[in-house]
Amino acid sequence: MAEHEPLNLEGSIALWQRARRVLPGGVNASARLNRALGHPLFFQRGQGAYLWDVDGNRYLDYCLSHGASLLGHGHPAVLAAVQAAMADGVLLSCETEGQLAVTERLLALFPGMDMLRYCGTGTETTWHALRVARTHTGRWGVVKFEGHYHGVNDSLGYSHWPALDAAGAADAPRPVADSAGIPPANDALINILPFNDVAAFERCLREQGRDLAAVIMEPISYDSCGMRPTQEFLQAVRTLTRHMGIVLIFDEVLSGFRVGPGPALGDAIIPDMTVLGKAIGGGMPISAFMGTRAIMETCTPTGPALHSGTYIAPPMLVAAVGATLDVVTQPGFYTQLDALGQRLYSGLRDSLQRRGIKAWVQGVGARFGLLFGLDAEPRNYRDVARQDLDMMQRFHVACLRRGVYLHFVSPHHGYSSAHTLDDIERTLEVMDAALAEIA
Ligand SMILES: Cc1ncc(COP(=O)(O)O)c(C=O)c1O
Repeated sequence: MAEHEPLNLEGSIALWQRARRVLPGGVNASARLNRALGHPLFFQRGQGAYLWDVDGNRYLDYCLSHGASLLGHGHPAVLAAVQAAMADGVLLSCETEGQLAVTERLLALFPGMDMLRYCGTGTETTWHALRVARTHTGRWGVVKFEGHYHGVNDSLGYSHWPALDAAGAADAPRPVADSAGIPPANDALINILPFNDVAAFERCLREQGRDLAAVIMEPISYDSCGMRPTQEFLQAVRTLTRHMGIVLIFDEVLSGFRVGPGPALGDAIIPDMTVLGKAIGGGMPISAFMGTRAIMETCTPTGPALHSGTYIAPPMLVAAVGATLDVVTQPGFYTQLDALGQRLYSGLRDSLQRRGIKAWVQGVGARFGLLFGLDAEPRNYRDVARQDLDMMQRFHVACLRRGVYLHFVSPHHGYSSAHTLDDIERTLEVMDAALAEIA
């Protein structure tokens, strides 16, 4: 593709016009509308680190199914495991020994987690985890941090990227529902706090701790561009939740397996529950919530918190988890993955400096945020909200035209184990040219 010619996206645009007659907005999920282009791309296929659209354009993929395809598209071990499991039955809706063995292996990688249950999506698993935490504690309230994302369910779908004029004071944010249709009565059950603010956290727990069932957080908030907790904040969260009998839930839907074979923070801080999704299925749609025995046994049939469903844990999806575990626990897997990130992040920082563009590269493991207009690590959502989204949009379009796909307006991007060092070098050339164009 010539560097300065506009992309031919006619096929995508024609399919989108057709799709708009039968799908609201012409998409099956609202995030698929590429806001930088004003329409979705229609893809033909994905393989390894690459995507091909219906117009024959090939892209190096840095969206990677919003983080689910950590192993790249169509990893052979995952495909083989799914096919082998399918040969014994597609859905079954029952227990198998294979599922059990994978479950034992998964739990062994998460210190402090005794039991788990599977779900289909991240949205379902955070919602179930909260139901279980409420049952366990007999309380209703929940603390969620501004900028963190836990899916689109009505209990937690608040203040992901709220408009600042609706969000209240920085040290005492108001809950802002992410969607219409969430019952206003739910607002009273959710407390939105600034991340990394020990004083605000202590104040909230002092005032409301006895009504709180759970504190939920992304241990590394890729949904806030890769924002990390300070050590002091983490310690305060763990100590106070334990002291007040509040269930601490780590939402590792994105961060799990991203920086190592298990929890993102290793065993530095052990929560009471962990939820997983995305990477664990090697691209297949499966998620899980896990916790201590006392908490998890509140699930039916041992307890009263209903968790059940026709499509939970089909053997082929659990087999995909097993194959993913095989791959990510191979010696050297994360060393190789990290080497790609180190080159990508340092190369991108060099380009930004050379081009005189102020932007912060927040690379944590195999995913990163790129915040135009910032020159320091973001510590809370209000920092993240200062970024220059117009610049980011122009950067994304400039990269896309040169064959590198970043998804606008996603707060996080990433590479996979299928990317090679050559792919990273090619990406850096593209990003440098894109920065030169938008500078
Ligand atoms: C941290 C986190 N939790 C939950 C979800 C929701 O997952 P899903 O899109 O599978 O419903 C996401 C999705 O991006 C996520 O990043």
